[in-house]
Amino acid sequence: MLTNLPLRATLLLALPLRAFGQDTVTVIRTTVTQTFTAAASTTPTSPQYINSLTFRESILNSTNTYRYQHSASYVYWNETLARYAQSYSENCQWQHSHGPYGENLARGYPDVTSAVDAWGDERALYEFSTTDPTGFTEATGHFTQLVWQGTQATGCGWTDCDGRNGLDGIYLVCEYWPVGNIVGEDNMFFVENVLPERSGGSSGFNELEATRGATGGTPTSTSSPSKSGANTPSATSSGESIGAPMAEVDRKGLLVTVCVTLAALLFGLGMS
Ligand SMILES: *[C@@H]1O[C@H](CO)[C@@H](O)[C@H](O)[C@H]1NC(C)=O
Ligand SMILES: *[C@@H]1O[C@H](CO)[C@@H](O)[C@H](O)[C@H]1NC(C)=O
Repeated sequence: MLTNLPLRATLLLALPLRAFGQDTVTVIRTTVTQTFTAAASTTPTSPQYINSLTFRESILNSTNTYRYQHSASYVYWNETLARYAQSYSENCQWQHSHGPYGENLARGYPDVTSAVDAWGDERALYEFSTTDPTGFTEATGHFTQLVWQGTQATGCGWTDCDGRNGLDGIYLVCEYWPVGNIVGEDNMFFVENVLPERSGGSSGFNELEATRGATGGTPTSTSSPSKSGANTPSATSSGESIGAPMAEVDRKGLLVTVCVTLAALLFGLGMS
């Protein structure tokens, strides 16, 4: 604990200056939208699930297509996240893990592309206003995590739950790091991290670049089509600011207010 303090203080001080005036910073690590198809899959399991390289490439290609369209840098594959997701999916629990990452869940989709599309398609319900954006809602939370500017890596896993715990078909779990869906005053983090669709759509999207990170490693700056000024609220996204137990998955229990962050922030400032 003690050894964590300097790191914590440093991370907190890395907060954008604008955040200092915040009363609270809210992190929504996870989104709970009931995205699933009703029918259990009776068709053979898609190679997008079965072949592990194809799986990673499909996740990155689809995720990065949305990210490109919303001017976010390509994410790369992170094995730490993937292992976490895989192990969590094996429990076949249709609820969030409340871990340190952003997390999207999908069940029953026949292949990876259609699952990620279900998340991305939520953008139709999102208002990209810079003064009064939608911010976090259950209906758009997967999308906003998917294209969140500050997120750099993803890792996913899946399990064919086959009805276990009432979970039909394939259960796909994706983790994102640094965590997205961070709410600040007036949704300031959403304004900075969820950008409207670029006018050119997918034109200019480079599949090779977008899937380059499928074998892990670090993102290359050349693979980034992102605009400058992308905001990475590092303190809150590091995930260590949560002191309170996570609320259970409940339509109302999603907002976890990290007053601890403020307390720690003040502490950090006091030390500097
Ligand atoms: C990758 O994404 C692009 C753009 O969405 C799409 O046209 C292409 O078919 C995808 N490639 C694969 C192998 O799925
Ligand atoms: C993968 O993610 C973990 C957890 O956030 C992080 O600590 C690690 O540095 C990442 N690895 C790479 C290669 O980026």
